[in-house]
Amino acid sequence: MSEQQVLVTGASGEIGQALVQELAKRGGYRIITSDFMPLPDSIKSLSAEHVQGDLVYKIKTFYDYDFDVIFHLAASLSSKAEVATEEAHRINVEGTMQLLMLAAYRSEKYKKAVKFLFPSSIAAYGMPNLDSKNKAGTVKEEDWDNPHTMYGCNKLYCEKLGMYYSKYYGQKHLDEKPPVMLDFRALRFPGLISAFTLPSGGTSDYGPEMLHAAAQGKAYPCFVRADTKISFMAMPDAIKSLLMLMDVPREKLTRNVYNVAAFAITAEQFRQRALKSFPDAKISFDPNPRRQGIVDSWPEDVDDSRARKDWGWAPDFDVDRFFDDYFLPEIRNRYEK
Ligand code: SER
Repeated sequence: MSEQQVLVTGASGEIGQALVQELAKRGGYRIITSDFMPLPDSIKSLSAEHVQGDLVYKIKTFYDYDFDVIFHLAASLSSKAEVATEEAHRINVEGTMQLLMLAAYRSEKYKKAVKFLFPSSIAAYGMPNLDSKNKAGTVKEEDWDNPHTMYGCNKLYCEKLGMYYSKYYGQKHLDEKPPVMLDFRALRFPGLISAFTLPSGGTSDYGPEMLHAAAQGKAYPCFVRADTKISFMAMPDAIKSLLMLMDVPREKLTRNVYNVAAFAITAEQFRQRALKSFPDAKISFDPNPRRQGIVDSWPEDVDDSRARKDWGWAPDFDVDRFFDDYFLPEIRNRYEK
């Protein structure tokens, strides 16, 4: 089979780096990357071409490419988006809109549905208060969709835009032959944790930051309360879910947007795990009211039963396997060097 042409935006970010590595490992893809930043050394040799700059202004470049799949990962995360709302809207919404228009145009013109993979987020949810959060437990995709943040609003709206461009764009009458539409598929990710990279600008960052600090023997004042609970996932599972969703035949999908989950733990449970492996770790709690408010509006956990049913989703790493088989061995290796 000939190579598939894949675009990865936000390729220099955490998900981007891990995804490009995995696509290259699989083989059979010509990987085009784009990011505001240059590519890090870890993936430089894996990209056939890198387009550096602001996606909103670079979009014209991509009209000449015959993409089979687009992974649109570029985004301004929740904490950062909250202090630069206009910029976040431009990156998160306008960037997505431009790329959706490109995919819709190419799908119709060349009669080949471009697959559009989009990472949405638990930030698309908004729990009105802690009591509702505690009582709700795991939430389904259509519940509590009232985001409290600019980032969450952006993600939820882009899910809707994706559905619009994949189903209704052009508003053809029922008697007319329907055009080929783009194939939009989104995942609502929990907080992601990589042993190799650190996030920046997010609000679930306290999880990975605490663990990386403990491994390096650095003190860490955690910016949320000890009882704060949301769901998390190992980066390899996030990549696995993206690739599974890319591979699944369209007819198996009953929706455009799926929750995926792995394990839900509190900040105190993170601390206990860190102390078990790094007994000298100095982790304190010094909640930041703004960031605390954001995480308090996110559900404790999400119900991913539809992803499990429709395309066989299951994470490889539950909480024990995450720490024992993935994070701790990798991180020791990394910082002991
Ligand atoms: N990890 C993201 C953030 O904290 C949520 O999707 O912004």
